[in-house]
Amino acid sequence: METKEKIVVTGALGYSGKVIAEKLLEKNYQVKTITNSLNKPNPFGNKIEMDSFNFNEPKKLIAALTGYDVLINTYWVRFNHNNFNHSTAVANTKILFDCAKKAGIKKIVHVSITNPSVNSELEYFKGKGDLEAYLKALGVNYAIIRPAVLFGKEDILINNIAWVIRHLPIFGVYGKGDYKIQPIHVDDFADLIINECFNTTNATINAIGPETFTYKELVKTIMDIINVKKRIINTAPYLGYLAGKWVSFLKNDVTITREEIKGLMDNLLYVETIPTGKIKLTDWAKQNHQTLGTTYASELARRK
Ligand SMILES: NC(=O)c1ccc[n+]([C@@H]2O[C@H](COP(=O)([O-])OP(=O)(O)OC[C@H]3O[C@@H](n4cnc5c(N)ncnc54)[C@H](OP(=O)(O)O)[C@@H]3O)[C@@H](O)[C@H]2O)c1
Repeated sequence: METKEKIVVTGALGYSGKVIAEKLLEKNYQVKTITNSLNKPNPFGNKIEMDSFNFNEPKKLIAALTGYDVLINTYWVRFNHNNFNHSTAVANTKILFDCAKKAGIKKIVHVSITNPSVNSELEYFKGKGDLEAYLKALGVNYAIIRPAVLFGKEDILINNIAWVIRHLPIFGVYGKGDYKIQPIHVDDFADLIINECFNTTNATINAIGPETFTYKELVKTIMDIINVKKRIINTAPYLGYLAGKWVSFLKNDVTITREEIKGLMDNLLYVETIPTGKIKLTDWAKQNHQTLGTTYASELARRK
């Protein structure tokens, strides 16, 4: 019988990690997850092994990774908050990489972001840049996957744009709304990651879908598809941020941060490379037009 690689994927009870784990199981790989949320609903039953991250106890983390061939790392935090922040996520990820090396992991497939930079003034993009540099120097075979923004079942950003369209009287785009965004479907993203698990060459790959939109075009496109027409106004980024704060207050969430607005407006979710995903956001949105944005997707609720 063929011996298949054993794969650890972080956050298999989370968003993209769940899709990656489902696809690995379909392909009959032995899958383990390490997660911060052993108590989240588990659709896998006993099909995957579960463990905690144990960042503070590297011996346990090494033990959790020992015997596995590949580590797929999705771990990150989206923004700074009272309970979590980027600098801790950077430090923890370095511990994870070190432990993976000590555990004999042969390949690390790490999820980053488009346009990371060690020189970025934005902590998200700087942290991702630091981690890419750390991984490249680690001495373990790697693939770095850089998504712009994910869409698909359970996504947050695209869903919440549709939610705002459905629930607020007008839609404010930050500034001119002419900066670009290249969403990739979570299935395409997961396929790309799985493909890289078995590539023996180191690689850094942008994960972008086949359609590029300006932010304003994206909002208009979603309005057309869900057939809810609202006036789109151009707003000063600060006012747009305040409107987001108001939604955050209503929903007990962090809807959007100043850093995210700046990254978007600086075109950091746009790259000039060939698309790696096939599924069009427009096709997916048409198939899901009845449900897209009917319910607000809360980042903080998912952390509880
Ligand atoms: N979603 C997007 O549109 C998007 C766009 C660009 C880049 N990315 C990158 O893609 C990767 C996966 O994103 P995703 O949306 O699929 O993430 P996710 O499922 O929400 O989280 C991925 C992992 O990070 C952990 N995590 C997330 N927030 C955390 C927090 N506040 N405190 C502690 N742990 C936390 C999760 O913990 P649990 O184990 O508890 O689930 C899970 O292990 C990330 O590296 C992200 O930077 C995502």
